[in-house]
Amino acid sequence: MPESLAIVNCSQLVTLAGARRPRAGGDLRQLAIIEDGAMIVRGRKIEAVGRRREIEDLITSDCEVLDAGRRVVMPGFVDAHTHPVFAGIRVNEFEQRASGATYREIAARGGGIRSTVRTTRNSSLNDLVKASKRYAQWFLRCGTTTIEAKSGYGLTIEDELKILRAIKQLNQETPLRYVPTFLGAHDIPSEYKSRRATYVSLVINEMLPRVVEEKLAEYCDVFCEADVFTTEETWQILSAARCHGLGLRIHADQLSLSGGARLAAEFKTVTADHLEHTDAAGISALNAAKVQPVLLPGSVYALGSHQYPAAREMIDAGLAVVLATDFNPGSSPTPSMPMILSLACTQMKMTPAEAITAATINGAYSLGRGDEIGSLERGKRADFVIHDCDDYRELAYFFGVEHASLVYTSGRLAFSRSVSEARP
Ligand code: NIG
Ligand code: FE
Repeated sequence: MPESLAIVNCSQLVTLAGARRPRAGGDLRQLAIIEDGAMIVRGRKIEAVGRRREIEDLITSDCEVLDAGRRVVMPGFVDAHTHPVFAGIRVNEFEQRASGATYREIAARGGGIRSTVRTTRNSSLNDLVKASKRYAQWFLRCGTTTIEAKSGYGLTIEDELKILRAIKQLNQETPLRYVPTFLGAHDIPSEYKSRRATYVSLVINEMLPRVVEEKLAEYCDVFCEADVFTTEETWQILSAARCHGLGLRIHADQLSLSGGARLAAEFKTVTADHLEHTDAAGISALNAAKVQPVLLPGSVYALGSHQYPAAREMIDAGLAVVLATDFNPGSSPTPSMPMILSLACTQMKMTPAEAITAATINGAYSLGRGDEIGSLERGKRADFVIHDCDDYRELAYFFGVEHASLVYTSGRLAFSRSVSEARP
């Protein structure tokens, strides 16, 4: 690794510099772009950010110079909601949905999450790590440098620990940064179908203490939904997780208005995720409690639904909205944040600037890392991406295109694509 690296000749250096807090209201549109910007990285961190002239004066002879070729340079995406460790895929269910079956019908006949649980239980730690490394590469090539990573396809003590240990290993062995979340309450496993309370107490009394003892998670999440965990059960699990010092996230109001957003507000969880069915009262409760909504339009799209979350109302109410992929083998098989930006603009009427903020600095704050990643500012981690375009809005406009040409995490090259075509 060179001691220092200067990135020059950026058409737009999209810094997202600004107040040290999650961005809400009009701040979501402030990207703090430096036209013809440049940046110096020393070791793992950003040393200086500014206009070409200012930075050129700081370039020393030992400094490697990287010419961005009049391209967009911006922070790596922070994907604050993913389920990236699982065995097997569910392409058969995808085909069934294309023929008219619904996600809930498939789940009710033993498919869905439970089907991935069966294959994941039968997989070794090594096999899980191997499968997940492929997905890590996908995230990086889309320009994502940090992901929040949930367990939840084990649903026994040992299998949940196995997934969280796989996440820990992936964090050490890949250039992608993982923030682990314990999601033992992702579903009631079939062997506990008629003993729900016993499973909830297993999560609370046996899984949580082990996860905390081994320091395998920073957050705890619960899938709060009519057919999954009730608000009462969610309340019990979140209370226990809070006592253990974990941060709280919640899958709320995804398939129905089940009270998840209200509960999130009552609990002052860090995030409330999904929110496709949240009503105006839920939005104002989230706002009063300063909960960050994590919107996942990829799952709405992939399930063929039209009920996108009310992003505009949330932004207008003052919420610090986050966008994420929800990468998982069932409802959202995409690692692509640019695809999510496209959906946010076309389906949820967010502007490209709002979407970029929601996909970087706001995601970072939702993971307790707003001071470390999510923007290009002196002292932060050098997690940045050179995208093969000259206007940041193209990331959302040209959809289905892989824009990232060079991806750096902590100052090191994590992915590179040969960019042959010269742009006009
Ligand atoms: O966020 N909602 C619950 N969990 C995932 C779906 C997981 C799966 O289908 O495997 C979600 O959409
Ligand atoms: Fe999810």
